Amino acid sequence: VRDGNGVKGLVDSGLSEVPERYIQPPEEQINKLESSPCDMQPIDLSKLNGPEHDKVVDEIVGAAETLGFFQVVNHVVPVELLESLKEAAHTFFNLPPGKKAVYRAGVSPSPKVKYGTSFVPEKEKALEWKDYISMVYICDEDALQYWPNQCKEAALEYLKLSSKLVKQLVEILVGKLGVELDDSKIESLLGMKMVNMNYYPECPNPELTVGVGRHSDMGTITVLLQDGIGGLYVKVEEDNDAENGEWLEIPPIPGALVINIGDTLQILSNGKYKSAEHRVRTTSTQSRVSVPVFTVPLASERIGPLPEVVKKDGLARYKEVVWQDYMNNFFGNAHAGKKSLDFVK
Ligand code: SIN
Ligand code: FE2
Repeated sequence: VRDGNGVKGLVDSGLSEVPERYIQPPEEQINKLESSPCDMQPIDLSKLNGPEHDKVVDEIVGAAETLGFFQVVNHVVPVELLESLKEAAHTFFNLPPGKKAVYRAGVSPSPKVKYGTSFVPEKEKALEWKDYISMVYICDEDALQYWPNQCKEAALEYLKLSSKLVKQLVEILVGKLGVELDDSKIESLLGMKMVNMNYYPECPNPELTVGVGRHSDMGTITVLLQDGIGGLYVKVEEDNDAENGEWLEIPPIPGALVINIGDTLQILSNGKYKSAEHRVRTTSTQSRVSVPVFTVPLASERIGPLPEVVKKDGLARYKEVVWQDYMNNFFGNAHAGKKSLDFVK
């Protein structure tokens, strides 16, 4: 494996310039000045249980229809757990290289646990300045047996609580489409869950690199914990044109979780909800961690615009696919903005 100790290993070896393979083409480099500061107010989920219920629902739906990104506070995940997760991520990535390498693909004790660098390194024009460990959830016993000791308890608890949050949000969003899905259908849309820990080491050339290149998430909804460093940007689509638009930074808010809509919900809603294009920059002085929970349909599920919505809209904007095929296409390619959706056009 190239850079077998990850980008963290490169940094620890004391390099003063990033290797050529991490230098992005100019059009992908992130100039801090391009983006606008964003005074995004978090949505207070505790108000769903009170007189402001409808207003909060409108905020959620409004955000899903426009930016595709929002932040929530007073959610089901205790703030202490968020702190433990960030700590656990630092603990894991600060392990000696040999203790992380045992989780590399091919040698990992479980095919569901994988430590790596960049996204699809063999397909990327330039590598991303990011190490990660991803853990797919099968059942509690599997998680407790195979996930790394440094993070398994916190990650498992977080995955379970985030799943409740995702279900609640999906019910709200699907409900607002005027569609009633039974519980088993909702469960199939949320059938596969994965928690990642991302580590972006300080980078000697932040202006030349990216932490994560432009992409949209393929799943239904992503829940993301970011630390206080900042650097996550989302593209504001202009007139539904995914090619154009300015970048907004999603500001770190203590105790908040970032929520973003994935391709699946964009497809199901026939384009009403926006799977947001986003990317992450690196910084020269501090390492950053983030902890996303991805929720995607069961592999065998057929995904397409919901018939009730198609009827109302008078046309289907996307083709139906078997979810496994969508995933294969997604993981078979490098990050490339919202190109993943071309698979269903
Ligand atoms: C991602 O979207 O892949 C990572 C987001 C983040 O680290 O903030
Ligand atoms: Fe993402």
